[in-house]
Amino acid sequence: PTTLRAGAEADSRYFGVAVGQQDLGNGTASNVAGSQFDMVTPQNEMKWDTVEPNNGQFNFSPGDAIVNFATSHNERVRGHNLVWHSQLPGWMSSLSGSQAKSAMEAHITGEVSHFKGKIYAWDVVNEPFNDDGSFRQDVFYNAFGGGAQYIGDAIRTAHAADPAAKLYINDYNIEGQGAKSDAMYNLAKTLVAQGVPLGGIGFESHFIVGQVPSSLQANMQRFAALGLDVAITELDDRMPTPASSGNLQQQATDDANIVKACLAIAQCPGITQWNISDADSWIPGTFPGYGAATLFDNNYQPKSAFNSVMTALSSG
Ligand code: G3I
Repeated sequence: PTTLRAGAEADSRYFGVAVGQQDLGNGTASNVAGSQFDMVTPQNEMKWDTVEPNNGQFNFSPGDAIVNFATSHNERVRGHNLVWHSQLPGWMSSLSGSQAKSAMEAHITGEVSHFKGKIYAWDVVNEPFNDDGSFRQDVFYNAFGGGAQYIGDAIRTAHAADPAAKLYINDYNIEGQGAKSDAMYNLAKTLVAQGVPLGGIGFESHFIVGQVPSSLQANMQRFAALGLDVAITELDDRMPTPASSGNLQQQATDDANIVKACLAIAQCPGITQWNISDADSWIPGTFPGYGAATLFDNNYQPKSAFNSVMTALSSG
């Protein structure tokens, strides 16, 4: 194989990418997104502030545009996301607890119903934990009186609207074992025991070069042992810029190890990279002085990490 998607498909997995509306108008970016990958996650176009800018008033055109791009390139879609403390519209902040409850359910039902049949998996709840493993006490937590309560309700509501979609909880800093991944594990175990139709856990995987946790595979495996899928959902591996050749080499090692960890787990359906190339990455804007985090450089050329990933996929 010469593409990530062909390499992943040979192992019965997918290789996905985050695509934003800005990429659709960029010929080079959309060529890479349309040829190298077989799964798309909308970068912002399915988030609450975009989809429901006013209470009960839905705007699906940005999300539809991403779905159309994916479909026309034979790619599937991971819906991202339904319930998250961030990128909420202003009107949410003036709701009472019971209004917030019904707003959450109506938002999920409206959005999942619109995209029904077109979404392989939904990140139903995004980033519910603080880094110390406590629940974020956001509007949803407060409205329902607890993390397992609103999360269970959100997943059941999404399932009612599209029973075929895999329903995920997605978070960062849960890739290795530690307080936060233990908290996610306990939540997942509780929800499974309650019969909540949870389908998988998303491990965002925003790594720093040389710091991929050595417990990654074992940690993902314990979630898989609960009967859940475990996906790498937002992979990047950042380094100080300009990138040194040593760090680019380490990145190639890191990314190959991540792919091998996924391939070693039967319930890891695939890996998604966050943004198409180093030129599109969110990293330099959020972590000044860092970048070079993806498999394609600023000119959309494959990097050493691309080659090491292809090798790992070929030996999987
Ligand atoms: O749309 C407005 C535009 O009207 C305005 O002029 C401009 C000025 O700053 O902002 C635009 O909104 C930005 C939006 O991206 C669309 O480009 C927001 O400011 C900016 O905060 C937002 O950033 C996104 C971020 O999530 C929000 O938290 C990033 O693009 C997106 O890559 C990032 O993705 C997240 C995942 O959803 C969850 N996991 C972490 C990941 C990286 O932060």
